[in-house]
Amino acid sequence: MGIIKLLDENTINKIAAGEVIEKPASIVKELVENSIDAGASEISVEVKGGGISYIRIVDNGKGINKEDMGIAFMRHATSKLSSEQELNKLVTLGFRGEALASIAAVSKVEMISKTHDSISGYRIYIEGGKIIEEGEYGCPEGTVVTIRDVFFNTPARLKFLKSESKESMYITDIMQNLAMSHSNISFKYISNGKLVFATRGDGDLKGVILAVYGKQIVKNLIDLNCSRDFITVKGYLGNSNISRGSRNYQSTFINGRYIKNKTITAAVEAAYKSMLTINKFPFFVLHIYVNPEFVDVNVHPAKAEVKFQDEQLIFKSIYHCVKDALISASHVPEIEDDRKEFIRNIQKVNYSQQKLDIKTDIETDKKYDGMIANENLTNSYELPRKDIPLNRNDDIYYEKDKTQYEPEGDRSISVGNYKIPNNFENEVTTKRVPKFGPLAVVGQIHFTYIIAEGPDDMYIIDQHAAHERIYYEKYLRDYKSFGMQKQNLIVPIVLEFSVSEKQAIFDNIEQFKRLGYEIEDFGGNSVALRCVPIIYGNPDPKVLFYEILEQINLNDKNVLSAIDKILYTMACKSAVKANDKLSYKEMVELIEQLRFCDNPYNCPHGRPTIIKMSYIELEKKFKRIQ
Ligand SMILES: Nc1ncnc2c1ncn2[C@@H]1O[C@H](COP(=O)(O)OP(=O)(O)O)[C@@H](O)[C@H]1O
Ligand SMILES: [Mg+2]
Repeated sequence: MGIIKLLDENTINKIAAGEVIEKPASIVKELVENSIDAGASEISVEVKGGGISYIRIVDNGKGINKEDMGIAFMRHATSKLSSEQELNKLVTLGFRGEALASIAAVSKVEMISKTHDSISGYRIYIEGGKIIEEGEYGCPEGTVVTIRDVFFNTPARLKFLKSESKESMYITDIMQNLAMSHSNISFKYISNGKLVFATRGDGDLKGVILAVYGKQIVKNLIDLNCSRDFITVKGYLGNSNISRGSRNYQSTFINGRYIKNKTITAAVEAAYKSMLTINKFPFFVLHIYVNPEFVDVNVHPAKAEVKFQDEQLIFKSIYHCVKDALISASHVPEIEDDRKEFIRNIQKVNYSQQKLDIKTDIETDKKYDGMIANENLTNSYELPRKDIPLNRNDDIYYEKDKTQYEPEGDRSISVGNYKIPNNFENEVTTKRVPKFGPLAVVGQIHFTYIIAEGPDDMYIIDQHAAHERIYYEKYLRDYKSFGMQKQNLIVPIVLEFSVSEKQAIFDNIEQFKRLGYEIEDFGGNSVALRCVPIIYGNPDPKVLFYEILEQINLNDKNVLSAIDKILYTMACKSAVKANDKLSYKEMVELIEQLRFCDNPYNCPHGRPTIIKMSYIELEKKFKRIQ
């Protein structure tokens, strides 16, 4: 007799439930998605004991007919999809017809529902997949689903659940994302008898973010609303005040569905790159709208992952949308008035032990050299304050700036009298406008910071960070326009590599060329560099080449991000350091170039380059005004 048997329906459901229903939070997600698909405008969710003992979802959606209710609990029973073609045009969250069957297989479920047209409602009670009771039931329009004792008949799964509080956190996480996915639905979420949050359902996403994350987050949001190529991106980006140590504060929705997708996360983070410090992740809530035909949601039973037809294009569009929004929202950060800290520090000082320690002999202390402001000190003060921007002609600086960045030699193409610049494809150079008004240099302190004044504020510039930003953008422009300045070597530099390193060099030969390298195979493990980029500050070309190769290897296929890091490295090596004495002219030049950067406010590593304090604030500090 054969030993292979077909499994009965109930066992199949129990096994399959493992894919869809991992934990109580998955039940909440599936049931709320059903309520959303049913067109509800109000959904209330109540859980007890982390959802293990009790989950109740109440909606005012269109309800289910009594004829359909039993069928709804069968595997692959769905009202949302009837043919394969429709899979490409899905607008509902559910379509696999698995959730109710899976939930019913591993818990005790009661469903009560009434449609608009039926006179009375209907109730069904199922335990472990078996219908125990059903019949007519008086109730208002809509659906109530109550789940008790999750995994009561699968003790092994029950054992794998985390503590009630942890499970409860998973549910909160899901509920937050569901609420943000549909700001037009009013959600109420109660856990162990306490209201966790409620949303208004008025379509205002910011209001939902306020309800789920609170005031501090909402105060630090940047609006995003952008259409590019075939997608529309709307939502909010967090500024650096609310960046986090993990990715838990990132939510992406595609056509109203909460999803996780590495391409999108990578694109957003790439756009933030030079604005956040290392190991910080941005806060964001993004709604992406795209023709359903371009995305496949049917790659995983929980439907949390999606595939795009063209991942590259998605990356590019999202990157630019986010980047543009961030740049236009950038500003010089205020010096924080940490009065409490200040008072605490003052109190710590023991005055009786303090002696006046002012050196009069400047010669003996080199440190004070940094404080001599400049040859033109008086000049900068003579400018009537309000006239500073007028006295300096922006156009002059603009012109000067342009020539500054012109690569050596004229490599532009002429068509008749019209000259096409050789870097016309380059977006960065086309928008060279100053991001803040001209500043008058006052001097350098600690050989590290430049003090400057504007009409209403005093500015402090970190010379290294600012210069790094200037070089980074210059190298980026040069790179994009094939214009990295390079130098032929009379004697080539011969370097040794492992087989895989050599392979990586020749796989990326095009990138190296753009960076200014001419590379030749020198036989065996060797490679000859015939030409190297001219990098200011003259870093050792061998060391630099190895660093570049390391970046390419580290970032594997993501050459774009490797190039970015390489350009940082080059910029960092080129920039003036802290403790470098600058002349007045150099400081003026540095600030002028900074003004014309695309993002003058942060160094490529995300640290601020410039901070300011208003004169009003100064006057308050000196108690001239209250
Ligand atoms: N809250 C609800 N209101 C109205 N109909 C519902 C609700 N929940 C489930 N249904 C019906 O039950 C069917 C099966 O649900 P489900 O198993 O989640 O599969 P799917 O959502 O993939 O269609 C749905 O297609 C829908 O017709
Ligand atoms: Mg469903």
